[in-house]
Amino acid sequence: MAAEPEEQENQLSEAQIAVHWREEETYPPPDSLIGQANAADPAIIERFGEDHFPDCFTEYADLLTWDTPWDTVLDTSRPPFWKWFVGGRLNASYNCVDRHLATSRNKAAFIWVPEPEDQATQTITYQELYRKVNEFAALLQDYCGLATGDRITFHLPMVPELPVAMLACARLGVIHSEVFGGFSGTACGDRIADSGSRILITMDSYYRGGTLVDHKVKADEAIEAARKLGQEVDKVLVWRRTPGQYASKSPMVEGRDVFVDEILGDYRGKSVPPVSMPAEAPLFLMYSSGTTGRPKGCEHSTGGYLSYVAGTSKYHLDIHPEDTYWCAADIGWITGHSYIVYGPLLLGTTSVLYEGVPVYPDAGRCWRIAERLGVNIFHTAPTTIRMLRKVGPEEPRKYDYQFKVMTTVGEPIEPEVWRWYYQEVGKGRAAIVDTWWLTETGGFLGTTLPALQPMKPGSCGPGALGIHPVIYDEDRNTVEAGSGRAGNICIRNPWPGVLQTIWGQPERFVDVYYRKYCADPDSKDWHDWPFLCGDGAVQAADGYYRILGRIDDVINVAGHRLGTKEIESAALTVEEIAEAAAVPAVDEIRGRVPELYVALKPGLRAGPDIEQKVTAAIEREIGKIARPARVWIVPDMPKTRSGKIMRRVIAGISNFTDVGDISTLANPEIVDEIRHFVQGDKLAKGEVPRELSPQEAEEIRNFGKTE
Ligand code: WTA
Repeated sequence: MAAEPEEQENQLSEAQIAVHWREEETYPPPDSLIGQANAADPAIIERFGEDHFPDCFTEYADLLTWDTPWDTVLDTSRPPFWKWFVGGRLNASYNCVDRHLATSRNKAAFIWVPEPEDQATQTITYQELYRKVNEFAALLQDYCGLATGDRITFHLPMVPELPVAMLACARLGVIHSEVFGGFSGTACGDRIADSGSRILITMDSYYRGGTLVDHKVKADEAIEAARKLGQEVDKVLVWRRTPGQYASKSPMVEGRDVFVDEILGDYRGKSVPPVSMPAEAPLFLMYSSGTTGRPKGCEHSTGGYLSYVAGTSKYHLDIHPEDTYWCAADIGWITGHSYIVYGPLLLGTTSVLYEGVPVYPDAGRCWRIAERLGVNIFHTAPTTIRMLRKVGPEEPRKYDYQFKVMTTVGEPIEPEVWRWYYQEVGKGRAAIVDTWWLTETGGFLGTTLPALQPMKPGSCGPGALGIHPVIYDEDRNTVEAGSGRAGNICIRNPWPGVLQTIWGQPERFVDVYYRKYCADPDSKDWHDWPFLCGDGAVQAADGYYRILGRIDDVINVAGHRLGTKEIESAALTVEEIAEAAAVPAVDEIRGRVPELYVALKPGLRAGPDIEQKVTAAIEREIGKIARPARVWIVPDMPKTRSGKIMRRVIAGISNFTDVGDISTLANPEIVDEIRHFVQGDKLAKGEVPRELSPQEAEEIRNFGKTE
């Protein structure tokens, strides 16, 4: 029950978000999955119970082929630098490719769908993948002189050359670091320097939203940026989107840049034996967001990471070898590494890669791909789901496909949107697995087993198999399930997928993830080292977690922390609203007040009636405390290339502060349009805020950033 206003005023330490949320009804697992899924017997939950830690995870490790078996499941001698499957040796490329040849050489490993619909789909069988990976590994070894332990940076779009390059590196024990293709050259350069890479792999161009984007130009910027930071790049390997045709205006630099299609022929038919790597050798780096300060290179291991992504893909995504699985994320993010490339390939399934925008050229594109390829597992993010719902709410009905499992990942999903996903996209017959996790965690932390556990809109579920979360308040008291209180969600136990360290910054690793709740820094007992996820969460009486967003994604209104998602979710209950983003505006009396930006469904006109409806919905769903100071109806939200709404940009506009770097946005032009509209209106009404203190300006600049 909601507390009385006077009472609320006194509760300053922890968010009372749960009292604002309505408890959602649950949906049972679909009949089609019951008894047929990989995790069909509830005994599995018991097998991964705390009493069986850490040995339960050998069930995941047994999904891999080891050259040498491990002698120690978990070494905790140097907390919190856990080591999994110590003594074991294996090769990632062998596990993803070679070992499937005997039974599945002619099966599609990847099906690549180019964005232009008139270009042919490319199927790469396990046999072809084997050849491509070997030849490219030979090139890396011979032409680039790369050896085990070296780092290499890729700045590649969604093309099959990217997983080929990853697996070629893995074959040699070279540590790959892919920078999301949509990032700027400068961002790429920072990461080249941080990882100490002297080779960059890029592509001349790729299709996005109907245009052929010049990508090689970013390589020149990246190399310049890396040089300023003291890192020289010796060679740039340039793939051409269409071999033989160069589509960039950037000149090739003599002695440095080379077209891969021109030299690859020298390695035709070459085989490279997979290097047997220790389980705890790093497999790759994935930089997590944070554009201020030094980037955080999350280092993932070979044995532990691969075991974890194989196991979670098998049981939580319910991937069988005969499935056609499509994760519409970008490989440039951790989701793509774990659940487009490594997880699906370890299980020998077919993984679909799509080059472009999900709604290009129209709202039916995803469903046409699903229909044609017979996709039966679909993996995507709330932002894409909202976009699909906005542009084509009834589009899925027109296509003949049927998913068995659908996922959502990356941010909390509003129950309204969840229900559309379930009814329309899943046609009421697919399980939704809401998978909550982080770049740092390698794989899922909170989610359901689709055939065994019911779904609840807006909640990810209980801990994933073998994951034991806890919610702490600021004083390390446990926030009990069903208490209606929120706190900081942590994972009590180590698990095989957790990052090993931050590349080159071991102290920062300990500080960021373990310092806050470590009971005793001298302790060798893992119980004393809970992992801080950085998310606010609330646990319902049934044990399901509702993730409220990053700890820094919270608007503190008069001492009450309100999750942006909570406000946005309320706004989305208004029929006309397609998307919503809440940001804090500095307010003299209440500290911060939320301002809400909304985009309407197509064909609707902005007007004061809609603003009123939104405000009324928020008051109704949450209470007056969350009433937005202003509701701005905008044509579109500023978004990253991966589709995340950049709340810090609109927060900057609302507060008349610098919006920061917008070069990585998918639609930078929208920023000026929104600024003009919002600030023009505020100026006209005399609502210009006072100049912010440096701390306030910093808070606004970082709002919604996951650092
Ligand atoms: C958020 C993405 C709610 C969360 C795999 C986390 C989610 C951050 C969910 C990590 C989900 C991810 N429900 N929130 N299912 N999944 N998040 O590192 O705030 O890009 O801390 O990893 O995304 O984002 P990252």
